[in-house]
Amino acid sequence: MSQHIQNLLGHAAPFINYLYILASVLFIIGLKMLSRADTARKGNLISAVGMLIAIVATCLLVGMEYKWILVGIAIGSAIGAIAAQSVKMTSMPEMVGLLNGFGGLASMLVAWAEYHKWHAMGWAEYAKTLLPDNPAAASEVFAAVAIAFTAVVGALTFSGSLIAFLKLAEWMPGKPILFRGQQFVNALVVLAILAAGAIFCMAPTGPNAYIAIAVLMVAGLILGITSVIPIGGADMPVVISLLNSYSGIAAAAAGFIILNNVLIVAGSLVGASGIILTQIMCKAMNRSLANVLFSGFGATKSSAKGEGYKGEAKPISAEDTYLLLEAARSVVIVPGYGMAVAQAQHSVRELGELLAANGCDVRYAIHPVAGRMPGHMNVLLAEANVPYEQLVEPQDVNPIMETVDVAMVIGANDVVNPAAREDKSSPIYGMPIINVDQAKTVIILKRSMASGFAGIDNPLFFKDNSRMLFGDAKATVSALVSEFKSA
Ligand code: TAP
Repeated sequence: MSQHIQNLLGHAAPFINYLYILASVLFIIGLKMLSRADTARKGNLISAVGMLIAIVATCLLVGMEYKWILVGIAIGSAIGAIAAQSVKMTSMPEMVGLLNGFGGLASMLVAWAEYHKWHAMGWAEYAKTLLPDNPAAASEVFAAVAIAFTAVVGALTFSGSLIAFLKLAEWMPGKPILFRGQQFVNALVVLAILAAGAIFCMAPTGPNAYIAIAVLMVAGLILGITSVIPIGGADMPVVISLLNSYSGIAAAAAGFIILNNVLIVAGSLVGASGIILTQIMCKAMNRSLANVLFSGFGATKSSAKGEGYKGEAKPISAEDTYLLLEAARSVVIVPGYGMAVAQAQHSVRELGELLAANGCDVRYAIHPVAGRMPGHMNVLLAEANVPYEQLVEPQDVNPIMETVDVAMVIGANDVVNPAAREDKSSPIYGMPIINVDQAKTVIILKRSMASGFAGIDNPLFFKDNSRMLFGDAKATVSALVSEFKSA
């Protein structure tokens, strides 16, 4: 880089931390706005502006290798733009899973690259790249611990997210995969991490350091795989949120390696919000985190799939459903993953408006784990302009369910499965559900009698007050809209 540009950047240096503070403030405001559906879009934009400021500020740091940064930005932007355009809305959850994984991979590579730099330059020179103004203040032990930690957490996040991606995309069976001696293998891997971590941190430039850091990364990759494959079915929401949190922790740790303030702040925000989301998901499923991570959900109870639920499911036509809806004074709509698959949200909003115009009280009950990613249903309904005030949570709607004339279940299954309340042998026993079976009539819109993501049969379909409106949700909801319009 020419001396002239170096000098100019030297003048910009004092402002970089101010730009980082501005970026961090924008992240926090954006994050706060993401917690409400009506402000989420703006929040996303504000966070993106914060990220742009952070990137520009980082590029102002002296000693940047712009050629490679531009190559990275060009390749990454091209892949991102194509993916954002071509990935279907229903594939968003697995895309989010993959993006978490890439965050982990990036942090792992930062750990590796920084260690390589340190090894090649020697500590005295490397410390100058960390703290140019006061290299003596940089600590070798601190750098070594940060590198080792980032390598493990980044690797674990990467491989764990890949497994979550494969499960969500249904390229891998969703059910738990357990093998003989799994706990023993996990214990060995953890021991390998502790041993390699100790060897590396005690002598980061010693003869075995390269091997130790390689062991840390490989063991992290194995641990990511072995800790996610035993988790299956309905527990995936917890895993996705937890991996999201890990990707933030890995990024914050990478920030500690290169002593970059904005990376530490952004990583900590992702880590903390991921942990909060994990707590929310655990609560939504009435499970403790330890129980999700170590119980091998469904593995010992696969016989309790629910094949015992017998009875006759009663189909209903769109015409008869219309008559029920037309007479109803209160309707609760429960959307689930099938509404996303059918892309029925716009027709659902139209039906909701027609019902309201008919004098009916319409509410949308959203279960926190409905769909395949946190907030999945909120995003779809917000996209279709469903008024935010009409959305209710299970704990608000369940107490009044007995007074509801019609509960319409649109492509939801696990989140309305009464086995969670009634059947102690069910793998989902104890998970809070939306008690649609307590409404006067339940209409279930789906294509067949197939089970949902958890692979568990649903006794709701055989209840006396249940009716099955078979077909693709968009087609059946559109048929109901037509009935209303032609009446
Ligand atoms: P599910 O239990 O997965 O049920 C979805 C239902 O939609 C299926 O039974 C399916 O039945 C129906 N369906 C699919 N395509 C349809 C279409 N085109 N038209 C009409 N119906 C259609 O969904 P849910 O109730 O939303 O529960 C979510 C599940 O996913 C839970 O087990 C949850 O733990 C898990 N999960 C959630 C997340 C997050 S973070 N939300 C992440 C991973 C996993 P047919 O095939 O008969 O139509």
